[in-house]
Amino acid sequence: MPKVKFLNEKKEIEVEQGANLRLEAMKAGIEVYPGIHKYVHCPGFGMCTTCKVHVKKGQENCSKPGIIERLSLKGVFNPLGFFARLGNEDEIRLSCQTCVNGDVEVETQPPMNWHGEKFWN
Ligand code: FES
Repeated sequence: MPKVKFLNEKKEIEVEQGANLRLEAMKAGIEVYPGIHKYVHCPGFGMCTTCKVHVKKGQENCSKPGIIERLSLKGVFNPLGFFARLGNEDEIRLSCQTCVNGDVEVETQPPMNWHGEKFWN
């Protein structure tokens, strides 16, 4: 069974192959939503971007981002989604849209990257 390591929380869990990352985090008592977004978020529709995580290791073990996630992280539904992934375009994922197919290490509630190396250049 794949293992998910939550770096901030120093917690590792085993999940079923293809499990949804957000749901597994919630089951394990891991908070993926920062601040008020614990209460105000889209319930896993991939549109609010507040459930984003930084996949530090095992990106290849995550499902490929679908069209909703790609649009969302480009800021189509929420402009903050654009800033959320600056500089880490391949590693920031929406946990609600990510299925786990192998071992991964994730950082929940990654800080917003307002500058991003590629933004001002
Ligand atoms: S819960 Fe809103 S984008 Fe994941």
